[in-house]
Amino acid sequence: WPFMAPYVKAINELKRERDAVILAHNYQTPEIFHCVSDIVGDSLQLAIEATKVKASTIVQCGVHFMAETSKILNPEKRVLIPDSRAGCSLASSITGADVRLLREKFPGVPVVAYVNTSADVKAEVDICCTSSNAVQVVESLGVDRVIMVPDQYLAKYVASQTKVKIIAWKGACEVHERFTGDELRLYREADPSVKIIAHPECPPDVLAEADFTGSTAHMINWVKTKHPKRVVMITECSMADNVQAELRDVEMVRPCNLCPHMKRITLAKILDSLVYLREEVTVDPAIVAPARRSVERMINLNN
Ligand code: 13P
Ligand code: SF4
Repeated sequence: WPFMAPYVKAINELKRERDAVILAHNYQTPEIFHCVSDIVGDSLQLAIEATKVKASTIVQCGVHFMAETSKILNPEKRVLIPDSRAGCSLASSITGADVRLLREKFPGVPVVAYVNTSADVKAEVDICCTSSNAVQVVESLGVDRVIMVPDQYLAKYVASQTKVKIIAWKGACEVHERFTGDELRLYREADPSVKIIAHPECPPDVLAEADFTGSTAHMINWVKTKHPKRVVMITECSMADNVQAELRDVEMVRPCNLCPHMKRITLAKILDSLVYLREEVTVDPAIVAPARRSVERMINLNN
């Protein structure tokens, strides 16, 4: 993509001038993921890395809740998102007020929030989780019942992996809920040797067809270590593109679904973000401390 080279050069130069680092999620397009990012990863890796950033500015290439998490962990730093309209169907499915109502309905039951939530929600819950540590987080609470918000499918997946009873919210990821078990069975019928790996935001009939289920980082790791001949990555499309750029001999079998929110982030907008220092992410100072406690409680489980 020769037309992208000037953007890549300008971004990498301006990053140094601005004392900025670029944190990018695994769903960012290859030219962002491979050419301008300093740190890439799944939601948990990005949150952990955000706590270690030395630079004064973070440019978050991902969706808004990820930039908010970086800001919660770095209230004194400037956190920029190239397009603040990059939302998430899970994050927009629940509010802090909803969590308060759940607590009234189920008194004394701890609440676990997926990081795909607003700072407002994080401030109301006991602990956060991501798709890579959800079972561990739920079991760390030492109780027999927890409320998990907002992803009903991640909650179902966790319930299948633990004895803890899960009370779920009704949110869903608009990207992963579109996959069906039927389409995966067709891929398997066409080639019984194909490997299918899926993200736990998928519905149960999809996960039932998968050879492996895990977070985006765990899925990438699985492909890198198992090195299958042909694999279907049941998740956002850019994941397969990013892995393909590194592993030329693994055939990536589609289908995949695009996340329209992740795709709002482009090289042109990243450059704009660095030139004009926009769009700055802010979090209500009153909720920074309680939201941070929920995120740090999760991070500290592995430290
Ligand atoms: P992970 O990268 O944590 O698996 O999350 C996937 C996702 O949907 C992010 O939007
Ligand atoms: Fe949200 Fe799903 Fe997009 Fe991730 S892929 S940002 S969970 S809508």
